Amino acid sequence: MVNLLNNEIISNVPNAWLSSLENYITKGKNAEIWDSTGKRYLDYVGGYAVLNTGHLHPRVVKKVREQLDNFSHSCFAYAPHENAVNVCNELNNRYPINDSTKTFLVNSGAEAVENAVKIARYFTGRKSIISFNGGFHGRTYLAMGLTGKDKPYKQGFGPFPDFVHHTEYPYEYRGITDELAIEKLDTYLNTALNPNEVAAIVIEIQLGEGGYIPASGTFIQHLRKVCDENGILLIFDEVQTGFGRTGKMFGAENVDVEPDIVTLAKGIAGGFPLAAVLGRSHIMDSIHDAGIGSTFGASPVSCAASLGVLEAFDNEDIISNTKIQEKIMKDALNAMMDSCDFIGDIRGYGPMIGVEIVESKISKIPDKSKVNKILDQCKENGLLLVSCGQEGNVIRFMGPLTTPQNQVEEAMEIFKNSLV
Ligand SMILES: Cc1ncc(COP(=O)(O)O)c(C=O)c1O
Repeated sequence: MVNLLNNEIISNVPNAWLSSLENYITKGKNAEIWDSTGKRYLDYVGGYAVLNTGHLHPRVVKKVREQLDNFSHSCFAYAPHENAVNVCNELNNRYPINDSTKTFLVNSGAEAVENAVKIARYFTGRKSIISFNGGFHGRTYLAMGLTGKDKPYKQGFGPFPDFVHHTEYPYEYRGITDELAIEKLDTYLNTALNPNEVAAIVIEIQLGEGGYIPASGTFIQHLRKVCDENGILLIFDEVQTGFGRTGKMFGAENVDVEPDIVTLAKGIAGGFPLAAVLGRSHIMDSIHDAGIGSTFGASPVSCAASLGVLEAFDNEDIISNTKIQEKIMKDALNAMMDSCDFIGDIRGYGPMIGVEIVESKISKIPDKSKVNKILDQCKENGLLLVSCGQEGNVIRFMGPLTTPQNQVEEAMEIFKNSLV
């Protein structure tokens, strides 16, 4: 049957930007969304790991409404507003860096990453940046350059900025142990690169687009050591791992390492566009007057939403809820793995869980077509999920951290019944 709605989309937006869902979304409430046909879904895509506090969290809605009674925009560099400073203050107080920190607000994850590197290069006076195979840092040119996943993000879009170097991210399931990844980095630093020319190492605590692969404390602690020994800045890209996604308020808490600069976005403002670059004060303050900025960064409306998100975290035990979610999901998924030869691995910090689908446990050959069948069946059965990974063979769970227990159980039941 020809879907007329889809034709309307096809004739107006580029093919590369087409949606996975056929019908318009008309309503969202916490972990549930409804489309224009009235079909209800459990939303484990969550606007791509943005809706950590769910659709239309009442505290977010209230703050936004209050702000809209006053004003909707000011460019912070000219007219400061209290919401932005309150967000910066809250983040400075909450992010686990035991040092004075300062925060700068922008619009998107990619813009935050660009600025983090900009600041690191300026502060160190060095040019080279190290990032990781499988890493994803956004769609602007430097962020694409840092990204270590070619298809679909980089293919055909080169050339990319110079002085960006990729090394191995640990991936235990595929034989890249911590030891191996450490050895590769150390060898690379001592042969192809001059460590004194490296401004920063940029890493995700758990790969997002790259396959929901967590990095261990051992590996990240090694990066900290390498950075300290060579005057290199350590940048955590917590665009996806922030705001409870990994079962801790920030991903860094899982690895017991403090970065020098961190980027935050996605869950920061309950679905409103906002991102942050937070760093040690002496680094952030090194930039000359007006050297960083953004017209729409620090939108008063998005900042109001962000204050609503933080209020929700403070008052609603969301972090404890992630532990309950993690247990329900990992218990259910592990049981499925025991009985399905095509589920090769289940992994991730907290409820940020990836399920790696393979042809068989022995061959470990990535099975993207199986993933697509499972995702289609899940959608049919009312559960929205997407894939990730270099080979597109990992299914990831990115639902709201506020999802009620019975809906987490319902999601697991639907998933089990969709393993076709
Ligand atoms: C780790 C990470 N960094 C950066 C980005 C880019 O963020 P945005 O799409 O807001 O530019 C993403 C988006 O998925 C991400 O997961």
